[in-house]
Amino acid sequence: MSLILLALLLSAHLAECVPEKPKRSALNQLTRSLLRKYDCGVRPVHNWTSPTTVYIDLILQSVLDVDGKTQSVTASIWYRQIWTDEFLMWDPEEFDGINEISLSSDAIWIPDVIVSESVDEGKSPPIPYVYVNSSGSVKNYRPIQVVLACSLEMYAFPFDKQNCSLTFRSWLHSVQEIDLALWRSAEAIANDTREFMNDGEWELLSIPSHYWQIRHDNTDYAHIQFNVLIRRRPLLYVVGLLIPSIFLMLVDVISFYLPLNSGTRIAFKISILLGYTVFRVNLTDDLPATAVSTPLVGVFFAVCMAMLMLSLIKSILVVKLLHHGEKEVRQMSVSACLLDKYGSGGHGFNESALTSLKTLDHIISSGDFELEPSLEEDLLSLNEIQEAPTGLEWIFQELVSLRIAFSQEDSESSAQVEWLALCSKLDHYLFCLYVLVLAVYASTLLMLWASWSFA
Ligand SMILES: *[C@@H]1O[C@H](CO)[C@@H](O)[C@H](O)[C@H]1NC(C)=O
Ligand SMILES: *[C@@H]1O[C@H](CO)[C@@H](O)[C@H](O)[C@H]1NC(C)=O
Ligand SMILES: *[C@@H]1O[C@H](CO)[C@@H](O)[C@H](O)[C@H]1NC(C)=O
Ligand SMILES: *[C@@H]1O[C@H](CO)[C@@H](O)[C@H](O)[C@H]1NC(C)=O
Repeated sequence: MSLILLALLLSAHLAECVPEKPKRSALNQLTRSLLRKYDCGVRPVHNWTSPTTVYIDLILQSVLDVDGKTQSVTASIWYRQIWTDEFLMWDPEEFDGINEISLSSDAIWIPDVIVSESVDEGKSPPIPYVYVNSSGSVKNYRPIQVVLACSLEMYAFPFDKQNCSLTFRSWLHSVQEIDLALWRSAEAIANDTREFMNDGEWELLSIPSHYWQIRHDNTDYAHIQFNVLIRRRPLLYVVGLLIPSIFLMLVDVISFYLPLNSGTRIAFKISILLGYTVFRVNLTDDLPATAVSTPLVGVFFAVCMAMLMLSLIKSILVVKLLHHGEKEVRQMSVSACLLDKYGSGGHGFNESALTSLKTLDHIISSGDFELEPSLEEDLLSLNEIQEAPTGLEWIFQELVSLRIAFSQEDSESSAQVEWLALCSKLDHYLFCLYVLVLAVYASTLLMLWASWSFA
């Protein structure tokens, strides 16, 4: 009973509160009155001869991608354009003191200002509103992602600078209808790096801008060009590409200190070459690819590879020479010229062989033999004696043959040592030549890169 009464009372109270006709808000009224007779297809000027000036402003937020293959740069910018719409003016007093209002950008006239270098629709978030104030000034602020066609100069990679331009223009309207101007001063725009994501690969140097008009079919078109000057931070590439290469080259140079005759040097050099090849294959993706010009760093890698190969070939030659010499040093006329000492020793040996032959004759004719101190004579005499060795003679024969074997080994090993010394000398000269070439090459590259990175 009391519950029903309460419900009745409440409903009566509610019915009192609800207004009979909902009153429009001031914002709603203003929007309706502004757009009631508005035609969004008509340039908003009372006198058609007066141009609409669009003020442009640009803040570079980040450089997302620089693609050498397609010659394009993807950048994210904050773009602002401001113009005066003569049909969107009101008296704030009439509308509850509202001075600014946001309107749907589809409902009003928007200038057709575009970036003429744009080659692709970036992933720009759609902003459906513009801001209008009571004196008819329309602010159209948008973050846009532009993919710019830009001629990229990759030769100095990773010490390169790029100059990409963003040219804003009205695609259709001549300067009599739409004129362009900078919203801030050119200096302020050029030095504005506050919003730039400065921790990435690219460093923003400046954004100089200028205005000019181009005449086309007897009509002038207004342009505003911003030149985005960016420089690559080379540290990542220096650490990842250049330093490992330089280390491998250093190890290769140091491998010359491995002994020439140990045979490990070639194996070592081959493993360096193999390591370098693997390193290069891993890095092909990191290098910027352009169809026209190779970056100098690509040439650097190729030359490093060539140097490693050259050093390997050099080692192979020297080792080959060394082994060749050990076997055939006697027959080689070159060695005879080079190794005077050895050459004379060889002649001496031949002469003594001759004398021993004579002695042999003498022994045979005389029938008896005495112990001669001359070694060679001993040998040859013994050859004759072999037929009937008695105990003492046998021991004597053994002793002499031992002596001969030793002396032969001595002379052979001394020849080997000399040959090794010669080869080492050759190796040393080739090494010096190699280091010289390497030094000239490295200093040239360093100078080039230094001049680029400090320019
Ligand atoms: C438009 O402006 C021009 C010059 O500013 C003037 O000569 C012309 O009379 C104006 N036209 C109208 C309809 O007001
Ligand atoms: C409207 O905005 C423009 C540009 O920001 C400014 O110059 C003008 O003073 C503003 N008008 C009013 C009434 O606030
Ligand atoms: C950048 O390029 C534009 C033309 O594309 C040129 O006018 C300007 O001088 C260049 N800036 C620099 C610093 O090279
Ligand atoms: C802005 O850049 C100009 C050159 O483009 C330079 O002369 C000026 O000093 C810079 N101003 C600031 C505040 O960095």
